[in-house]
Amino acid sequence: MNFADSEILISILKDNGYTSIDDYRNADLILVNTCSIREHAEQRVFNRLNEFISLKKRNPFLKIGIVGCMAERLKEQLLNKVDLVVGPDAYRSLPRLLQEGRGIDTVLSETETYDDIIPVRTDTNGITAFISIMRGCQNYCAYCVVPYTRGRERSRSADTIVGEARTLFEQGYREITLLGQNVNSYHYGSVGFPALMEQVASINSLLRVRFATSHPKDISDELLHVMARYDNICKSIHLPVQHGSNEILKKMNRRYTREWYLDRIAAIKNILPSCTVSTDIIAGFCGETEEDHLQTLSLMREVGYSAAFMFKYSERPDTFAAKHYADDIPEEVKLRRLNEIIALQQELSLASNEREIGLVQEVLVEGTSHRNPEQSYGRTSQNKVVVFDNLPAGSYANIKIIRCTPVTLIG
Ligand code: 5AD
Ligand code: SF4
Repeated sequence: MNFADSEILISILKDNGYTSIDDYRNADLILVNTCSIREHAEQRVFNRLNEFISLKKRNPFLKIGIVGCMAERLKEQLLNKVDLVVGPDAYRSLPRLLQEGRGIDTVLSETETYDDIIPVRTDTNGITAFISIMRGCQNYCAYCVVPYTRGRERSRSADTIVGEARTLFEQGYREITLLGQNVNSYHYGSVGFPALMEQVASINSLLRVRFATSHPKDISDELLHVMARYDNICKSIHLPVQHGSNEILKKMNRRYTREWYLDRIAAIKNILPSCTVSTDIIAGFCGETEEDHLQTLSLMREVGYSAAFMFKYSERPDTFAAKHYADDIPEEVKLRRLNEIIALQQELSLASNEREIGLVQEVLVEGTSHRNPEQSYGRTSQNKVVVFDNLPAGSYANIKIIRCTPVTLIG
C-alpha cells in the first residue's frame, strides 16, 4: 500500500515541478513514507532518519519530510526532527507545505481516494503494477493501528479503476494487483468487489488480475465463482488468519472462528481446486497459552499454506489491545513460538512447491533474473516464482517445473 502511495506522491510532486534523482545524497527534498504496523518498522525509520538529517550539514537547503502512517500517529512530535509531517490523506497539501518551507497536515478524510491522480509507476519491470481501489479500514482488530492512521474505509470509483487498468494494459503491463486493506468490502455505487473484478478481468484476457488483502469474514462464494469464470484472475488468495485459537481470535476482534475460517478454505478448495492460499500470522498475542499456540500450528497444517508472513505481536499505543490487555508473553516465548511457526511454514512451503514438480504451468515472464542474466523469472497464476531460460518480459510461456526450493520453482 505504501508503495502505491509513494507513486501517488511522486505524481503530485511532478505536477508541481519537482523531479526525482537517483542519489538521495544530492537531493533537496527527502520524503520518508512510513509504516506504523509494528514498533520495529518505526524504529527502522528513526535509524534511517539520522542519516538523512546529517546530510543537512552539507546542504542547508535540504528539507526532510515524514509522510504516511507515522506522520499520522506521531504528529507534532516529529516536527522537532523533520520539516514536513504529512498524513496518508493529506498528500495534496505537500506542494503548499513545501512552499511554506515547514509544516504539518495530518487531517484524515472520509472521501479522499486520490482517484484523479495518475500514479507515476516506479516499478522497473513494466509488466506488473498496483492499483489502489480503496483506502482506510474500520475493522478495528484489537492489535492494529491501521484504523487510527489510515482513517475510515472508502472506495474509489469503479470507472477510474477500470480506466487505470486499461491504460496500463495499453502501455504493455500484463498484471495488476488491486489493493486495499480489505478489498472484499469494496463498494462504489452499485458495484461491489466481485463485479469490479469482473469488469477489470474483462479488459483483456492477457491482463492478469490479483488482489490483496481479503478479510476472511467478507470473502464470498460469489467472488470465488467470478474467480473460477476468468482464467486471467489469478488463483491465489491472501487470507490472513492471524491465529488458530478461537479464544485469541475473539480477543483480537477478528469476528470469525477457526471453524468459519476453515469453512472458507473448504469453499476455496471446492470452487477453485488449483488455488493457493497464503496468510499472515501473529505469535505471542496477549494471554496466548501454549495450547492456543498449538492451535495455530495445527491450523497451518490443516490449511497447507503456500506462503505466510509471520510476526511477533508488537503492542501499538492507543489500540484496543494496548488499552485493555497486558502484553504479557515474555519476549523469549514470543520468539520461540514465532520460530516454530516459521519452521513449520518452511516445511509447508516446500511441500506446496514440491507438488508442482512435473507440472506444466503458465508463467507470465516479468524480467531477467537478478542472479543470472541468462535466466528469466516470472510467476504462475498461483503466485509462485519460477526461474527458467531467457524469454521476453511480458510474454506468457508454458513452463515445465523440474525442481524447487522452499521459495522458488525451477523450470
Ligand atoms: N503486531 C504484530 N503484527 C501485526 N500486524 C498488524 N498489527 C500487528 C501488531 N500490532 C500484522 C497482521 C497483519 C499484517 C499486515 O501485519 O498479521 O495482517
Ligand atoms: Fe488492521 Fe484488521 Fe484493518 Fe487489517 S482488517 S488493517 S489487521 S484493523
